[in-house]
Amino acid sequence: MASYEFSETAGRIVRSEIREMLKWSRRADTVSFGGGLPDPSLFPIADLEQIQLAVLERKGYLALNYGPTPGEPEALEAFIKQMGQAGDIATVDSLCVTSSSQQALDLLTLLLVDPGSAIILESPSYVGAIQAFGRAGADFRTVPLGAQGMDMDALESALHRLDAEGKKPRCIYTIPDFQNPAGLTLGLAGRRRLLELAGSRGILVIEDSPYRDLAFNGEALPSLWTLSGGKGVVLLKTLSKMLFPGFRLGWMAADPEITDKLIVLKQSVDLCTSSFVQLIAAEYMNRGLLEGTVKKARALYKPKCDAMIAGLDQVLPPGSSHSNPEGGVFLWATLPEGYDSTAILRRSLELGVAFVTGGAFHCDGKGKNSMRLNFSFPSISAIGEGCARLGQAIAELGPTRK
Ligand SMILES: Cc1ncc(COP(=O)(O)O)c(C=O)c1O
Repeated sequence: MASYEFSETAGRIVRSEIREMLKWSRRADTVSFGGGLPDPSLFPIADLEQIQLAVLERKGYLALNYGPTPGEPEALEAFIKQMGQAGDIATVDSLCVTSSSQQALDLLTLLLVDPGSAIILESPSYVGAIQAFGRAGADFRTVPLGAQGMDMDALESALHRLDAEGKKPRCIYTIPDFQNPAGLTLGLAGRRRLLELAGSRGILVIEDSPYRDLAFNGEALPSLWTLSGGKGVVLLKTLSKMLFPGFRLGWMAADPEITDKLIVLKQSVDLCTSSFVQLIAAEYMNRGLLEGTVKKARALYKPKCDAMIAGLDQVLPPGSSHSNPEGGVFLWATLPEGYDSTAILRRSLELGVAFVTGGAFHCDGKGKNSMRLNFSFPSISAIGEGCARLGQAIAELGPTRK
């Protein structure tokens, strides 16, 4: 057999446990608390049938061709309008379309991370970001989560430690709203302090914000983007959770100087994002349909979240805890020390329920007794059944005896 030579980057690639889990979401006999999938009943199939025909008829000559790397002007205008509804002001030269936020993370990794570059991030954090930064050889500096998102005292200590090492982090990566995986939200005071700590040192903040529009009460806190006046913050937006992930469509907003560099990097990655998809999304947004979908999602997800909390409260052993999200699609549960969520997952899959183990969201080997549970995808009755199966797996295995 030939022995091929691969790059150092390829050697650093770690398989995503979540991508592995997605296959369980397609099995009829398994309740999936695994991936962060939206409820498919929200997918606006009839509207899209109509809109895609209209786009082909009126703009097929653009839709099916190569498009500009920064994005279709019509889509960029629609994104600016969408941001404006949430109070976030942006100009066209600060925006770049992406093949969803995972591509933004890839481009930001290319822009910011060399082997050994320090990156500050929450612990636990989004596995796809850990995968992207880690692939480039990032030196992860983790900051624990408090009751309200990233712990600011711990962030300050991490910054002091880096100061003492003479090392400036390339960015602080944060998911301030209904965080993936923990479901927590950074409070207003925390947001201000984060910007103060980062701004005083000239450190770029990456605000990854897929869940911001999914506040159950419809009210989100001001974004870091807005609080900073767009200075020193890169904001990542995606249609994946507001609408659906199948378009693979999102955008990022940054200081135009940074956006320009990201656009050049994007040229080398995929030339452009599908114009067809951008024009359909722009038309959908321009018809005012997105707000309705997001509103329906909020109304659908709150009772699902409540059902999951009720189900977990019945089955989690004494000494366990879980987050109480006020939006988004994830809940985080922590079992007492000694429980092993990897072993529990193996038994859970046999019993017909999938979730993602807490360790996958840590880059420091922690989180072995915790789990991320998605409530947006399963139905309410499946959530009840899934919690019962999970409870059986936990009870059967118990804590590991030393
Ligand atoms: C925090 C966060 N960032 C980015 C992504 C990537 O999403 P997409 O590439 O579909 O926009 C996800 C997906 O779950 C996420 O939770």
